[in-house]
This record gives sequence, structure tokens and C-alpha cells, in this order.
Amino acid sequence: MLEFLPPGGTVRKLWIGEAEAYRDHLLRLDFESRRRRFSGGVGDDFIAQHARSIGAFGVVVYGFFLDGVLRGAAELRPAGPFAREAEAAFSIEQPWQSLGVGSVLLERILLAARNRGITALQMQCLAENRRMQQLARKFEADLKFDFGDVVAEVDPPRFTGLSLLREWTEDGWGVVNALLDAQSRLVRAG
Ligand SMILES: CC(C)(COP(=O)(O)OP(=O)(O)OC[C@H]1O[C@@H](n2cnc3c(N)ncnc32)[C@H](O)[C@@H]1OP(=O)(O)O)[C@@H](O)C(=O)NCCC(=O)NCCS
Repeated sequence: MLEFLPPGGTVRKLWIGEAEAYRDHLLRLDFESRRRRFSGGVGDDFIAQHARSIGAFGVVVYGFFLDGVLRGAAELRPAGPFAREAEAAFSIEQPWQSLGVGSVLLERILLAARNRGITALQMQCLAENRRMQQLARKFEADLKFDFGDVVAEVDPPRFTGLSLLREWTEDGWGVVNALLDAQSRLVRAG
């Protein structure tokens, strides 16, 4: 699938040292987006603790960056070490919603899930969250879901050499983009 992102935006995996950037992004979510992201109201302390947990075994977070600032994220969290089930969750700050970012992030999460042998992916989604449901429907070929129960069951196919190569290539580009981004911010600051 072609990736359409807002101009200047990039998507890459977060590093463990970026837990603070993840926390700040989650704290910037407006009230409604925060409620939808966590399927209910949660406080700032909960968010700070949640962000710190990106270093836990098996957790993968993709971030959408604009001008070096994390504006959107997608999290893949396995149920346990070597588990076949995982949870996926998405958060995009309000000004960058409905611009295609969620679609790019979901595609990356599906690839990561597939490459880790995860066969059941759950997305906690409030019944009223039409946009998330529409987003999942776009990937009907890769997902099997039932929103009657507000939980989406996903069934990605098994990994192949090509799917592994794709993730590694994207990781490589992620590092290059992060370096270029840091350099251009340094130039601007100077
Ligand atoms: C839900 C969310 C992840 C979707 O990401 P997004 O970047 O806004 O979505 P996209 O722009 O990729 O749009 C995906 C699809 O949703 C549909 N859509 C977009 N905007 C919509 C809107 N305002 N209302 C209903 N459907 C909408 C479209 O079908 C779209 O696909 P298309 O443009 O190819 O037709 C994002 O809006 C978000 O983070 N919301 C707050 C937190 C949340 O709800 N998280 C989900 C629970 S984990």
C-alpha cells in the first residue's frame, strides 16, 4: 500500500530512550482522543507510567513525527513473552487526525505483528469510535474483526522472508530519517 502522510511527516519505530516523547505525545491528546485511546478516562500519572513501559519485552511502538515532534503513535503489546496474542492501540493528536496517519501506522503494526508470529491482535475500541472502525475496515483483507463486541480480532498471515526484509528496510530508513531530522533542527537552531 502507498503511504500518504502529511508533508514533512515520517513514521519510524520509537527507541527505548524516547519514552518521554511518547508520554508528552499522549499527554497532548485532547480529552476525547485520550478517552478513546485508553477506552475510558485515565489520569496523567497513568499515562506517564504507561509510556515508561515501552521498554517492556516485545513492545513495539511506531511513531509519526513532524518537525521532530511525535504527533501520533501505534503500539503493539504482546500478551506475554512469545505470546501469539497482542493488543494494538493508536493515538493521533487531533490536528493530524483524518489525514491518513492512522492508515500508515496500522499497516506497520500489521507487518510487525506478522513478523513476530502474532496470530490474534486485539484492538480495544469504543462502540462509538467510527473512525477506528472505518480504519480497520480498510484492512479487511488482513483483518477479521467483529465490532459488535467492541473488540477487533485480527488474523495476520505468517511472516515471509519478504515481510521480514520490509520491516528491516523500514527500520533502516527510520534511522536515516531520524538523523536527517536531528541535523536539520540543529541547522535551524544555529
Ligand atoms: C482512530 C485514529 C487512530 C484513526 O487515525 P486517522 O489518522 O485519524 O485515520 P485515517 O486518516 O488514516 O483514516 C482512516 C479511515 O477512517 C475513516 N475516517 C477518516 N476520518 C473520519 C471521520 N472524521 N469520521 C469517520 N471516519 C473517518 C476513513 O474511512 C479513513 O480512510 P480513507 O480516508 O482512506 O477513506 C485517530 O483518529 C485517533 O488516534 N483517534 C483518537 C484515539 C483513538 O480513537 N484511538 C483508537 C482506539 S485504540
